[in-house]
Amino acid sequence: MVSYKDLGLVNTKNLFKKAVKGGYAIPAYNFNNMEQLQSIIMACVETSSPVILQVSAGARKYANQTLLRYMAEGAVQYSKDLGKKIPIVLHLDHGDSYELCKSCIDTGFSSVMIDGSHLTYAENVKLTKKVVAYAHKHDVTVEGELGVLAGVEDDVHAEEHVFTQPEEVEDFVSKTGVDSLAIAIGTSHGAYKFKPGTDPKIRLDILHEIEKKIPGFPIVLHGSSSVPHDLVEIINSCGGKMDDAIGIPESQLREAAKSAVCKINIDSDGRLAMTAAIRKVLKENPGEFDPRKYLGPARDALKELYKHKNINVLGSAGKA
Ligand code: G3H
Ligand code: 13P
Ligand code: ZN
Repeated sequence: MVSYKDLGLVNTKNLFKKAVKGGYAIPAYNFNNMEQLQSIIMACVETSSPVILQVSAGARKYANQTLLRYMAEGAVQYSKDLGKKIPIVLHLDHGDSYELCKSCIDTGFSSVMIDGSHLTYAENVKLTKKVVAYAHKHDVTVEGELGVLAGVEDDVHAEEHVFTQPEEVEDFVSKTGVDSLAIAIGTSHGAYKFKPGTDPKIRLDILHEIEKKIPGFPIVLHGSSSVPHDLVEIINSCGGKMDDAIGIPESQLREAAKSAVCKINIDSDGRLAMTAAIRKVLKENPGEFDPRKYLGPARDALKELYKHKNINVLGSAGKA
């Protein structure tokens, strides 16, 4: 059994309390490799922001759960080397079983998500409650989810959003004992969130209804990449094909971050920034074959993207 506390990590409790009070959101950035982790930590140290490092099922398959945990432990030391020990959470993204959440808790994660959103309400409550009981024994915080995001999540594909029903949140939170709640209000995973020609709008009205039911309770938004147009253009002009990629307008995320939304999940935008930089370097230098020559610029681009998010979208800059 490894406790996150011995690794220098923190859970989300205090971070969320301050974020709700202060009207900002903590960034939750996914990582799968060293360059992504370096850029996240550099950006958050340079903007003095707390950060949630997220590990998805795909990341565990790609990079190995143990290795990712050691990388997060290294990130704590790395932030000190860069000049500031920022609060770092190691979080399981979209945990799908009690066993997986337990294994992450036992190996040093400080926060887990149990995603029962595809189950019936009663089953979701039962599973989430079981995870909370184990996690809280170890002072690990738990994120639950109510409602279903449209789009692709690992192997699960939902055609339509099932918006979170404000009438259910109070009961879910009190029955399960979760520390935060992910809600579905029109965000979705990936780079194709809205049909071209439609209004890219999330349902802030539902968010406000939910807030009224559970005042001050920490809310989480998944699927919150903005799919910056300039990145898509670079990708398309350098041999890529990403027509019709559309994300959540930054102004709407800024608005949400001012409310009880205190964790905003961003993965796809990082993928776009990396891909755009790599495509550009390789197009301009077809003879290049040293990975550092394209992963280095990709890392720089990622860092700038994360700094921009912290300062201008989430408002987490200066809150470490
Ligand atoms: O929730 C989705 C995240 O973007 C992680 O995606 O499972 O492909 O790593 P992934
Ligand atoms: P995006 O695909 O919009 O970046 O969402 C990521 C996410 O929600 C991870 O859990
Ligand atoms: Zn997600």
